[in-house]
Amino acid sequence: MVILGIDTSCDDTSVAVLKDRTRVLSNVVSSQVELHSLFGGIVPELASRKHVELIGAILERALLDARVTLQETDCIAVTNGPGLIGSVLVGLMFAKGLCLSTGKPMIAVNHVEAHAMSIFLEQEPAFPFLALIVSGGHTVLLLFEAPCTYRLVGTTRDDAAGEAFDKIAKFLGLGYPGGKAIEELAAGGNADYVAFPRPMLDEPDHDFSFSGLKTAFVNFVKKKGVADEDRPHVVASFQEAICEVLCRKTMKAARDYAVSRVIVGGGVAANRRLRALFGERAAQEGVAVFFPSRDLCTDNAAMVAITGSFYAERKLFSPETVRGFSRMVRG
Ligand code: KG4
Ligand code: ZN
Repeated sequence: MVILGIDTSCDDTSVAVLKDRTRVLSNVVSSQVELHSLFGGIVPELASRKHVELIGAILERALLDARVTLQETDCIAVTNGPGLIGSVLVGLMFAKGLCLSTGKPMIAVNHVEAHAMSIFLEQEPAFPFLALIVSGGHTVLLLFEAPCTYRLVGTTRDDAAGEAFDKIAKFLGLGYPGGKAIEELAAGGNADYVAFPRPMLDEPDHDFSFSGLKTAFVNFVKKKGVADEDRPHVVASFQEAICEVLCRKTMKAARDYAVSRVIVGGGVAANRRLRALFGERAAQEGVAVFFPSRDLCTDNAAMVAITGSFYAERKLFSPETVRGFSRMVRG
């Protein structure tokens, strides 16, 4: 089976071709970082216009790289949310057009589910498992019973983890997007330098909140001032607080739902400190933890294609009336 995957949920235009579940024939990702960094963050209207401009060429590139024609694909999987609605709609309408003109079936894919399922491009964890998805727009815990069957068991009440990284990076003048820059600056820092709060650790539920932590960081820097040589320490302390909360709350959820496998995905899952901390804690708790390769953590269409493949195997196709949506809700 050959699946075409399309993702335009945020600021990357991506098209991939996937064969027989695990053979990624192409995975073209065109980043808009340069455009948005001029403004210090994503400008939604510019993002959707850029997707319109690029999507045709990215499709052509992906088919050429894969040495496959559109007619040779079996179905088209496309993100229909959550994301910036204008951006989501560009990919979704483009996919609908392709399906109408070729007669191929369509599978509308949830972008957050796709971050979780990206692990199957490289590994085969058994179900059930818990997935922590940490990106610029989401910090959610999904409990997967089986392929295509999951529910949202925890979410952030305010900022997403990636958003918190991006906001403090902007505050420090480190540019956009900030997660990678923070990780690099923190690399030589002492993570015990500032005892930043660990929000929501004692709450009985599985939700997160990062806006207070972000404010604590900004207040600390404004009040104390931070010399250049101390910046790595302060930033490392912030990164440690985020990683610690993500890890402890995920392990708590794994215990509460009695699952022994955890998958971590989304852009923030590229963070080396997060990967190391999960590795340590999971070993202590007897939980198996799975991370996709770092370049498959950030947005890409291969993850949409592989998610689509699980639906296609079950003949779970979407009607042509399927709509786009912007927010993930608790189900
Ligand atoms: O999954 P993604 O590419 O797009 C969304 O769906 O949002 O995630 C982007 C987010 C940004 O907030 C970015 O700062 C963060 O992932 N990020 C990182 C790292 N690389 C990307 N955060 C921490 N450490 C990193 N190495
Ligand atoms: Zn994403």
